[in-house]
Amino acid sequence: MHDLTLNAAALSQARHTCKAYDKNKRIDDETLRMLLESLRLAPSSINIQPWRFLVADNDTTKTRIATSMTDGDAHNAPKVMNASHTLILCTRTTLDDSHLQKILDAEEKAGRFQTPQSKTARLSLCQNYLNEYAKDPVLLARWAEQQTFIALGHLLMTAKLAGVDATPIGGFNADVINQAFDLPNQALTASVIVSLGYGSDEDFNKHLPKARLDFDEVFAFI
Ligand SMILES: Cc1cc2nc3c(=O)[nH]c(=O)nc-3n(C[C@H](O)[C@H](O)[C@H](O)COP(=O)(O)O)c2cc1C
Repeated sequence: MHDLTLNAAALSQARHTCKAYDKNKRIDDETLRMLLESLRLAPSSINIQPWRFLVADNDTTKTRIATSMTDGDAHNAPKVMNASHTLILCTRTTLDDSHLQKILDAEEKAGRFQTPQSKTARLSLCQNYLNEYAKDPVLLARWAEQQTFIALGHLLMTAKLAGVDATPIGGFNADVINQAFDLPNQALTASVIVSLGYGSDEDFNKHLPKARLDFDEVFAFI
């Protein structure tokens, strides 16, 4: 375990986007499992969990991911190839009854319903929610993808806690990834990519000061 003495503010200050990885350093299985669990346990609106996370740990798959990073995105390819693991965070393009049923079953199995009626009430609440969004596919897709990005944030902080470097990567061609991994046929779309591993000496961002807008620029107490 690393940096357990960090407080929350120091954690946010210390986390950075890794810009270059040491290809020889691998994340061990236990640490990887913990990081994946932080994705699985991420919060989502009505607990809808509209995601699936693809994990690449080998050069062949990483190369297929890197083909989506050309032209202005080419600088991201080494961040995929040299990382220990690269994840494609996918969002589901359909949220049908069978998906909702899985969620409800998981909640039941976890012991969250005191009575059968409470499960029925919860199902109805979730259906109402989904039916509202289903009226506008664009809104539904946006809402679903927002949840995937919450999972991304969860992972980035957990990675820092675990002493693992991470790179959120939005600079890639989603169409290329979707085709390369046959995602539309699985009712998925690639939302964001994350590389995980251990930074090399070329990770220039590690030594740069963090730059954010001032407190008063960002917050208004109302
Ligand atoms: C959704 C998202 C997409 C990003 N895409 C990339 C990317 O394609 N390549 C990259 O090197 N960094 C990428 N970043 C990292 C940001 O540039 C970085 O978070 C920001 O400059 C703040 O720096 P810090 O993370 O080191 O604090 C991305 C960050 C987020 C949250």
